[in-house]
Amino acid sequence: LFGTLDAPEPDEILRSNQAFAADPRAHKVNLGIGMYYDANGRVPLMRAVSEAQRRIVDGGVPWPYGPALGSETLRAHLAALVFGEGTPVPVSAQTLGGTGALGMGATLLAEAIGPDAVVALSTPSWPNHAPIFARAGFTIRGYRYLDDAGTAFDREGMLADLAALPRGSVVVLHAGCHNPTGVDPAPEDWPAIVEILRAHGLIAFVDAAYLGFGAGWSQDCAPIRLVRDSGVAMLFSLSCSKSFSLYGERTGCLMIPHQDDAAARGIAAHAAAYARTQYSIPPGHGARIVEIILGDEALRADWLAELETMRGRIIDLRHALVSTLAAEGMGDRMGHLGRQHGLFSQSGLTRAQVARLAAEHAIHAIPDGRICIAALNEGNLGHVARATAEVCRH
Ligand code: LMR
Repeated sequence: LFGTLDAPEPDEILRSNQAFAADPRAHKVNLGIGMYYDANGRVPLMRAVSEAQRRIVDGGVPWPYGPALGSETLRAHLAALVFGEGTPVPVSAQTLGGTGALGMGATLLAEAIGPDAVVALSTPSWPNHAPIFARAGFTIRGYRYLDDAGTAFDREGMLADLAALPRGSVVVLHAGCHNPTGVDPAPEDWPAIVEILRAHGLIAFVDAAYLGFGAGWSQDCAPIRLVRDSGVAMLFSLSCSKSFSLYGERTGCLMIPHQDDAAARGIAAHAAAYARTQYSIPPGHGARIVEIILGDEALRADWLAELETMRGRIIDLRHALVSTLAAEGMGDRMGHLGRQHGLFSQSGLTRAQVARLAAEHAIHAIPDGRICIAALNEGNLGHVARATAEVCRH
């Protein structure tokens, strides 16, 4: 029956993760899938998350069906956290992580503007962006993002490519900690980007999966607020996976600001219909955890403080990697890793070098050269630097 189906290209991030899991070598390192690990190489259970879980268990909280749009309290807390206390909560839906928010947003857009519109992605972008929008029927186009060296932001290239898009195109923007490159526009670049969106009648789809890992929580929210304040038509996907270390809980949110009451009712009805046919209601546990943290001043402060520590640790790891690579004879060839933001960097390693890292050194990265800096620690950094220098030398 299904023999006629062509197998889609496997996702390289998930494939690398499977290769890591199947690797029997004790010294293996997973620089592939994007997760933050602590100094002991473990995905942390954040203090505030642990306390929220305790309260859930101690409270004997049951798990009835909730509404298709998920927790209204969660959505209000997340809107306040990103857009500021007291700002109106945009029409929104709790989603299955950031990916679920992108999928729901893509479908709502296709229903609203028709799938003939162009969706523009940075070149490169997260490898799941194109399939998500293609599944909703959109034509995908790239916009320039990196300079010729592949290590810094190409402001003029991006602005020119956005200006050349047909009016009504959707532009997917990474709010920060760009995945896969770690290269972000500087704060002073954002007004120009927003002005092009406004002047050319483009729709912004801002994807935020790494808030708090760039320059700090409020600085990381600044571009999102700027787009919102400009009045540009906007969708906003928010993932709690990294910022709360809640990867498997699938907690996220789609927000669509600037809608009058009638439009907001229409969007909410379509979002609820989408949820109902896909998964009925979003999962409750991660949402309840985030809701408890954000609803309690002390817990929220502790969560932000721990997130800030995680951010600082990644910066330290970046500098330690750059200097260890230099000591291994690589000079400043990977100096850009120290200047980039968030969990990832595009290392510049070739596909062949990445394959050798896995085969000869049990170090698993993404074939396009993306490495997860947040997977490094004192115990594996030297091994990673030596092996990287070795595959680059021969
Ligand atoms: C990543 O880019 O590694 C993460 O966003 C995880 C994923 O789902 O791809």
